[in-house]
Amino acid sequence: MSDLTIEVHLGPDDRRVALERDVREGLTRRPKSLPPVWFYDERGSRLFDEITRLPEYYPTRAEREILVRHAAEIVRTAGVSTLVELGSGTSEKTRLLLDAMAEADLLGSFVPFDVSEEVLTAAAVAIGSAYGCRVHAVVGDFHRHLAAIPDADDGRLVAFLGSTIGNLDPAQRRRFLFDLDAAMTRDDRLLLGTDLVKDVDRLVAAYDDPSGVTAAFNRNVLAVLNAELRGDLRPDAFDHVAFWDDDNAWIEMRLRARQAHSARLAALDLDVDFAQGEELHTEISSKFRPEQVSAELHDAGFVVEGTWTDPDGDFLLTLARPYC
Ligand code: AVJ
Repeated sequence: MSDLTIEVHLGPDDRRVALERDVREGLTRRPKSLPPVWFYDERGSRLFDEITRLPEYYPTRAEREILVRHAAEIVRTAGVSTLVELGSGTSEKTRLLLDAMAEADLLGSFVPFDVSEEVLTAAAVAIGSAYGCRVHAVVGDFHRHLAAIPDADDGRLVAFLGSTIGNLDPAQRRRFLFDLDAAMTRDDRLLLGTDLVKDVDRLVAAYDDPSGVTAAFNRNVLAVLNAELRGDLRPDAFDHVAFWDDDNAWIEMRLRARQAHSARLAALDLDVDFAQGEELHTEISSKFRPEQVSAELHDAGFVVEGTWTDPDGDFLLTLARPYC
């Protein structure tokens, strides 16, 4: 391994403090809600991985298809030699971009950015040895540490894939795009993956699969709370709910209590009562129209340089640059 840096901006305490705050706030408000970041412990990440292979869950395949067909053109248009990946999970799709950069003789460094040091270290080592490029990993929260992304002389391609942006509500999304624009220079490029509005039955099926993997993923957030906060929440006491909200253009996931019951999170000294049928909000997954993506990017200070979709028109990749 030649050139590997891991820069840590989040301590173990930051995660803990955020978890405690999110859970205390979320479970004492009405309606009860939890932010989707807490789905992803080891089991949650494995379940998400399983989701991406379900026949009903098209977004991952559609985005991969776009990259297989168009990564060469995307990296040529971007014309930079540093790839930054925000929320770099297993980095499987990243490799398609890295391959295209290497092919175009453009690959200088890779900057994976994630909240999880473990995930990041594994990805950094694997990519470093497979590509022989410089790797500068940043452990951070993209709501707070975008400025920590290292500079690059000829600009950076910042990839935010998987429609992760869809998990933010419109206000959070706007804030995120403004922060990103502020952290970027005129040589930088943003590559944004967004899932598109489509037939409601297909959208709902993608979040309510008959094999119950998404239901297990949704319920897993309760197991995460139990493990971390000494809780006795009962995942099996809740139904998985996923529906299309047409006004907000998002899929919403909830957990619905089958009966009235109580639970306790000892680490927070918090008792939580659920009424029969009460719903805990766990995730929104916004779906976009292409014009809306361009308009929101423009509002935040970006100009669109290119857009690509898969043959079925299910998913969109947008390349944009800051306009000043
Ligand atoms: C995190 C955006 C990739 O919202 O589609 C999958 C998470 N939730 N099934 C999404 C998820 C339920 C996913 N992303």
